[in-house]
Amino acid sequence: MTNTVSPNGGKMRAAKAFGFSLDEIRVVEDDAPVAGPGQILVKVKAATLNYRDLAVLTGTYIPGLPLPLVPASDACGEVVATGEGVSRFKVGDRVTPIYTQGWHDGRPTPEQRAKRTIGAPLGGVLQDFVVVPAEDAVHAPSNLTDAEAACLPIAALTAWSALSAGPMKAGDTVLLQGTGGVSLFALQFAKMSGARVVILSSSDEKLERAKALGADVGINYKTTPEWSMAVKAATDGRGADLIVETIGSSLPESLSCVSFGGTVAVVGFVAGYETKLNVRQLIGPMVRLQGIAVGSRRGFEDMNRAIELANIKPVIDSFYPLEDVAEAFKYMKKGSHFGKIAVNL
Ligand SMILES: NC(=O)c1ccc[n+]([C@@H]2O[C@H](COP(=O)([O-])OP(=O)(O)OC[C@H]3O[C@@H](n4cnc5c(N)ncnc54)[C@H](OP(=O)(O)O)[C@@H]3O)[C@@H](O)[C@H]2O)c1
Repeated sequence: MTNTVSPNGGKMRAAKAFGFSLDEIRVVEDDAPVAGPGQILVKVKAATLNYRDLAVLTGTYIPGLPLPLVPASDACGEVVATGEGVSRFKVGDRVTPIYTQGWHDGRPTPEQRAKRTIGAPLGGVLQDFVVVPAEDAVHAPSNLTDAEAACLPIAALTAWSALSAGPMKAGDTVLLQGTGGVSLFALQFAKMSGARVVILSSSDEKLERAKALGADVGINYKTTPEWSMAVKAATDGRGADLIVETIGSSLPESLSCVSFGGTVAVVGFVAGYETKLNVRQLIGPMVRLQGIAVGSRRGFEDMNRAIELANIKPVIDSFYPLEDVAEAFKYMKKGSHFGKIAVNL
């Protein structure tokens, strides 16, 4: 069906950042978009937040980004209109737009990585309707609610790509850092693949919750700041075969506990972008360092099949209405969440 008529009389709600501060996010009325040729118009049902959004909203991720900006990258919604020539989706389908628009398989082009990511520099998903090319969305897994499917585009796909960086096999040990969105998906995918999971957290209570999800060993990085020793002890001295580095500045500590020939998938920077490395930590133990930038549409579709088959359910910490989205970001900044923070539209 081709439909170029705007819904809701052409108007919609949109959360916009008018400055680089969480106090400058306001929900305003805006013009609803219309699907052009090759595009789908999606009624956003739910969105989820990522650490990246905080970095964007405080101006540290892409300094000089033009404002106002609709933040956030991850959403699930229903196709309400299709533009001319669209056959990939029909009205009524549940979809999730992909984060790096245009990256379908293989390696992304520099152009895609620099300019085609939703939520900055492209506009985000915290609005009632979004338009994306039909080629740049995937079907939502049938076993997930809208909010659960909205957790997938960045957090889940990044975890999936990081675990694919190994390769990881059953019986390997995977080290995860923190109990945020990426780490908890990595925990679920690693257990699905038969790996042993060692997880770090600032909170003993969160470590217990991670164990309830299948984590084998929990280490409190506050009370055990030199946690590499504890990881070695938990692996009979071998170290972790695959480390999903979300802390960033702890890379030297990770290199102290990666196994001989193991992999560190470098994903995040929650404690800072910079660190000092001794290259001998890489050379002697023949460690592989692999940067991760979310993933391609192919990876997303592979992951969704696994999510359906294994009936993986994303861990959602809390739900906020669109009107309270600034509070949701402030809650995320506090860091007491376990898993994802969702926004219902
Ligand atoms: N490269 C990519 O493709 C990609 C994709 C997604 C995310 N990322 C990055 O990966 C990181 C995690 O993202 P996320 O969305 O999972 O974040 P998140 O949901 O906010 O979780 C981050 C978790 O890290 C732990 N943490 C926070 N500050 C810490 C510190 N100073 N030292 C050690 N641990 C700390 C906390 O766990 P506890 O409360 O359990 O201590 C926190 O819940 C971010 O840097 C994000 O930008 C990168």
